Amino acid sequence: MKFAKKLIAVLALVPGLAFAAESGFALEPAPERSDLASLQNGARLFVNHCLNCHSASAMRYNRLRDIGLTEEQIKNNLLFTQDKVGGMMTTAMRPDDAKAWFGAVPPDLSVMARAKASPSGSGADYLYTYLRTFYKDDTRPTGWNNMVVPNVAMPHVMWQEQGVRVAKFADAPNPGVSGNTTHQFVGFQQLSQGTMTQQEFDTATADLVAYLVWMAEPAQDTRKKLGVIVLLFMSLFAFLAWLLNKSYWKEVK
Ligand code: HEC
Repeated sequence: MKFAKKLIAVLALVPGLAFAAESGFALEPAPERSDLASLQNGARLFVNHCLNCHSASAMRYNRLRDIGLTEEQIKNNLLFTQDKVGGMMTTAMRPDDAKAWFGAVPPDLSVMARAKASPSGSGADYLYTYLRTFYKDDTRPTGWNNMVVPNVAMPHVMWQEQGVRVAKFADAPNPGVSGNTTHQFVGFQQLSQGTMTQQEFDTATADLVAYLVWMAEPAQDTRKKLGVIVLLFMSLFAFLAWLLNKSYWKEVK
């Protein structure tokens, strides 16, 4: 009991573990997009927009065969010239450069979708909300800010698709403390249209998130199928053991 209390106290000190949505911004549920076409679209977006800065070093390119791509398609559409189809999804950006340019090293995204699960939502909800709530903020070094991770060091990489938005805040009196006001988010204002409509952008982001979720556990389909086979085998085995047991004891009676 004492140990459990200590453990909880220690865990509470680990930042980001209990409350991954640091800002308290409500996470929006990510639409379910797990068909192969969505995953393939997500993989394409991921390779084109994220691998410049992030790695996914637990992931091999040829594993993308599991989402229905042929080795030829992977080679022709998703590989940068220096990469091999059996190689890991690494990034060309050096951590030191990233630190100098952004002030933070882009984290590896292999298992990000699992790491971001929290009581406020699944990892998918976190990523879906995070990737759709970038807004223009000239006070930030990159020119961008984010609702889920305030003062984030990552720029909005899909701004051409989403278009440019600013966030509107209003000062409201804080009900708890007299004379105190809180800075509340009231909504986004679209400054310029992107190449996608909002609906298209949401769908594209949902595909990208579905890919990130798949990548965090590419074996989950196999694991589930294997589970069923194991259970079938166990029941058959139990039956045989029961028959055997019966025939042994027949002699004794
Ligand atoms: C120009 C470089 C760059 C690109 C391209 C980029 N990122 Fe990032 N990303 C960063 C940096 C830098 C951070 C660290 C942010 C911080 O710690 O403030 C980051 C952080 C993140 C995080 C962690 C956020 C958190 O909760 O702390 C996620 C998730 C993420 N990126 C996803 C993506 C995805 C998905 C893409 C592709 C659509 C992408 N990034 C493209 C630079 C980049």
